[in-house]
Amino acid sequence: MAIKTVVEHPAQILSTPCTEVTEINEEIIALLDDLYDTMVEYDGVGIAAPQINVGLRVAIVELGEERDILEMINPTVIETDGAEVDIEGCLSFPGLYGEVERPDYVKIEACDREGRVYELEAGGFDARAILHEIDHLDGVLFNDKIQRILTEEELEALYAEAEEEE
Ligand code: CO
Repeated sequence: MAIKTVVEHPAQILSTPCTEVTEINEEIIALLDDLYDTMVEYDGVGIAAPQINVGLRVAIVELGEERDILEMINPTVIETDGAEVDIEGCLSFPGLYGEVERPDYVKIEACDREGRVYELEAGGFDARAILHEIDHLDGVLFNDKIQRILTEEELEALYAEAEEEE
């Protein structure tokens, strides 16, 4: 396990579609653990393998109030529904926050670290976080989806709110 340096935009690996994982071995387990350590260090709610310079379809997100960790190996989106605009940021874009429209429901299929295939349904911010990370695995970045970048004042309010929550 190790904290890795987060790759910042612009970087080739961030806009390159990732390769499917063919075997869940020690390397993949270590990758999941590195993603977790790095996400915690950088205070993110999700992170994808290309953000630590690994071009494989592996990502993690924190879900819900309990901040449970969802590990996704080779995730695919089965279904989406609805649309909602909310504020997003990304560890690869320090200081950039903007309004992004995404489905507010998603159903995915993915593999866990034991190699079990699972399906998961999520809504609201959880759906947003999952779709943001799966976008990373397709080489798609959130800056291309921003409808409106937050102003300095809005950013300061957002930071103040985050501080209060700590
Ligand atoms: Co991101």
